[in-house]
Amino acid sequence: MTMRSALEIVGAGPLAGDVQVHAAKNSALYLILASLLSDEPVVIEGVPKLSDVLVGLEILEHTGVKVAWDGPDVHLHAQRVRDTSAPYRLVSKMRASFVVMGALLARAGEARISMPGGCAFGPRPVDRHIKAFAALGVEVSDDNGDFVARRHGPLTGRVVFEAPTVGGTQNVLLATALGDGVAEIENAALEPEIADLAELLNRMGARIEGAGTPFIRVHGVDRLSGTRFRPIPDRIEAGTFMLAAAATRGDVTLRGIRPDHLVAVREKLTEAGVRIVDVARDAWRVDATGELTAVDVTAVEYPGIPTDLQAPFGAFLATVPGVSVVRDRVYPDRFTHVAELQRMGARMELTERTLVVRGGPLVGAEVHAADLRAGGALAVAGMAAEGTTRVLGVESIDRGYERFAERLSSLGASVARVELPSVPSSASSPASELVVGGVAAG
Ligand code: EPU
Repeated sequence: MTMRSALEIVGAGPLAGDVQVHAAKNSALYLILASLLSDEPVVIEGVPKLSDVLVGLEILEHTGVKVAWDGPDVHLHAQRVRDTSAPYRLVSKMRASFVVMGALLARAGEARISMPGGCAFGPRPVDRHIKAFAALGVEVSDDNGDFVARRHGPLTGRVVFEAPTVGGTQNVLLATALGDGVAEIENAALEPEIADLAELLNRMGARIEGAGTPFIRVHGVDRLSGTRFRPIPDRIEAGTFMLAAAATRGDVTLRGIRPDHLVAVREKLTEAGVRIVDVARDAWRVDATGELTAVDVTAVEYPGIPTDLQAPFGAFLATVPGVSVVRDRVYPDRFTHVAELQRMGARMELTERTLVVRGGPLVGAEVHAADLRAGGALAVAGMAAEGTTRVLGVESIDRGYERFAERLSSLGASVARVELPSVPSSASSPASELVVGGVAAG
């Protein structure tokens, strides 16, 4: 009999205690790609062992990079590049792998990357990446579902993003840091993961100015050297723990955070009545034992509330009496969690990309996580619900939350990974499973 994994959560009252936030998955994924730009070893420290990171490392190995773990650190050595392609088998597992295009272009002058796979939450195209490369003189063609990119000279020019894109900005940084061109990026994404990549590249000898602002200038250099680097803490993981604390009316101290990356999240939770106190330079106590009120949340680009926390915010607000409104301006259709939360008794209505939440008690149910952050949301709801919740689709959660069950349990939650016998999909699969099976996110 085939089995499927689930998170079994027994709503066990308020979370309490301390939790250490790990390194940012969405930074580590790009930092490891920077290793392709040097023939010297690059060590990225404290890398979370998540399935998305493992896919990224597999892509690097496919291109010829030597990859070795030393405890939590990853040693990467791209002495020579053997293969300039990223196969569909890997790209289809994770969209972010498209950003290896920039690194391969820089190091080898060419790249063949499969079209990223389907999407778990609405359209997620790569048109802005392609236009950016074209603006720098890269020739990009489509060959039977593969994008083939070739550089014929230095990458020089001005990229003007019609709207910011995190992956697109990372792709351009990687493509232009090594080489003789001068590239400018207008309307660059502001997310802290951009500045983190620029900082690593600059430590390797690159000349990148303005990362973290809308205007970035890259002076290509001849050579980049090896270095050691530690990624920024994961602001989305931190936010998910904050929302779990809030939804369970708990009192949790987060350690190892970058408070400046979480300003909007703090403001919104404070508006909802959660008390957030600085207990150290890198630690916050999140105390949700007081009275809470409904708030409206709109996810926008950094420095606003991140889209990656929109679903966990919705789960929290489902527990808060009153009416809240949730919108997502980055991924306006990122609402696969709603039907699942409704199975847990959440009173939510989604019309025209606007989610109206009438908070109240939740009850445990069997639900399915169609994407990573939907999984985060369902776990938050499960811990706040009466009774037992089983979150299926744990593979989605494994993409971005390291040792999630274990760490939540250390805060007093009752969360365990269990193996359940598979049922035929026609019998009792939740709707979202039928709609989005076999998809790539991240
Ligand atoms: N977009 C386009 N065309 C493009 C690129 C983007 O239309 O060529 C649109 C997207 O569809 C979206 C918006 O632009 O509506 C922003 O997308 P962006 O490119 O910024 O997102 P991304 O780089 O694909 C990263 C994170 C996501 C996070 C978004 C937004 C990684 C690996 N992924 O994706 O994280 O939601 O930025 O902050 O860094 C997650 O961790 O669960 C996750 C999905």
